[in-house]
Amino acid sequence: MDIYLDTADLEQLRAGASYGVIDGVTTNPSLVAKTGMPFAEIVPKILEIVDGPISFEVLSTDCDGIVAEGRKLAAVHENVVVKVPIIREGIKAIKQLASEGIKVNATLCFQPLQALLVAKAGAAYVSPFIGRLDDISTDGMELIEQIVQMYANYDMATQVIVASVRHPLHIQQAALIGADICTVPYSVFDKMFNHPLTDLGLERFLADAEKIPK
Ligand code: G3P
Repeated sequence: MDIYLDTADLEQLRAGASYGVIDGVTTNPSLVAKTGMPFAEIVPKILEIVDGPISFEVLSTDCDGIVAEGRKLAAVHENVVVKVPIIREGIKAIKQLASEGIKVNATLCFQPLQALLVAKAGAAYVSPFIGRLDDISTDGMELIEQIVQMYANYDMATQVIVASVRHPLHIQQAALIGADICTVPYSVFDKMFNHPLTDLGLERFLADAEKIPK
């Protein structure tokens, strides 16, 4: 399973990329707003840090506007993936952008049938938001299982990006289900490394190593 960072924060991206295990990045308008930087400034900077698919979201909500924004974004760099909301106009725009060879990440997916529609429209990726479903007492991971199963049934090429991740267990569950990608906030990525027994074990090994005759 590929791991993406779900952030536009340049320091977090640099720190994450330094481990060599980050495959891509997803952003959204809320994450870009948090940086306090203009969108046009942040795009090239993110593209410099991570060499992999990087999703930037359109702001238009009508088909022509989405397509125009999508073309502009895609022209910036080959790694750019155009994030399009799953609304009626968005589906039409996905069909058009995909027919031009532009990779689309269909976002704000909360229902398996939305995932079916965007796959039929030719989206390269779909982003089901599991944490926001969990937040309203609905099993977000069940949505991932259903989409993965549905795509497998019909050999659909759209890749599933597990999004709105809240804790490390979400990443583990996503990988066990067989999701293609999990996009994680830096704070959650950082928790993947830790186990107290690893720290204790290393401490003991190093202490015992001192006892080895030189
Ligand atoms: O990038 C989309 C998604 O991951 C947002 O997550 O935490 O705002 O629900 P969240």
